[in-house]
Amino acid sequence: MIVRVFPTPDESARATAERIAVALKDKPDLVLGLPTGKSPIPTYAELRRMYGAGRIDFGRARTFNLDEFAGVGADHPGSFRQFMDQHLFAHVNLEPSRIHFLNGAAGDLDAECERYETEIESAGGIDLLLLGIGSNGHIGFNEPGDELSARTHRVELHDVTRRDNATLFGGEAGQVPREALSMGMATILSAAAIVLIATGERKARCVERMIRGPLTTRLPASFLQTHRSVELFLDRAAAALLA
Ligand code: GLP
Repeated sequence: MIVRVFPTPDESARATAERIAVALKDKPDLVLGLPTGKSPIPTYAELRRMYGAGRIDFGRARTFNLDEFAGVGADHPGSFRQFMDQHLFAHVNLEPSRIHFLNGAAGDLDAECERYETEIESAGGIDLLLLGIGSNGHIGFNEPGDELSARTHRVELHDVTRRDNATLFGGEAGQVPREALSMGMATILSAAAIVLIATGERKARCVERMIRGPLTTRLPASFLQTHRSVELFLDRAAAALLA
């Protein structure tokens, strides 16, 4: 893993956006995997700024988001789809047909997961996958447990994850759906390159375990150690335990 540490979250975000811009320049039809959560918000702001300045072109790119809440349609204010529209999609030149998302409101959620896997395969796989990390070490919505799922699947969310996502549901953890759909560990690890963003002291412990700890289903992010191209973009607080 390549570890990059920046003094502030904003500096880390600028470098992350720059990394994406370079990837898009090298491959304009890039297949980009995208996360939600607070961590990527400054990166999305920077991408919007770069687009406004004519420095980045999404015209031929395709995107696949990592996950979505179950029982939540694309127009639900708490959906990850709305989050992405708000922070990125509505502001850059990405045609809706090039944006791929899990439909949390699908009638058959298992079939929806299979459809998504097939779509990723038909796109030729993900070239660059941006990730955040949950405070319990989850990636996407792959929660710590006795086992991990390989492919896109339904997940029961842990209470800590529902609390962490409460802001999307009026601050009420109880309003956060109990279930979600997420790319699986093999889906994530088959991306050609991975960039993980972590900022703030709340992430320091799981960042340290992700890099130095054993591979364990108790910390799904630890499996990133097995991938040949992972870059971590950290601020000083998230890197505090690495010294
Ligand atoms: C959610 C998302 C994850 C994200 C995590 C961390 O659970 N499913 O993809 O990494 O939140 O969120 P934050 O960046 O707000 O700490």
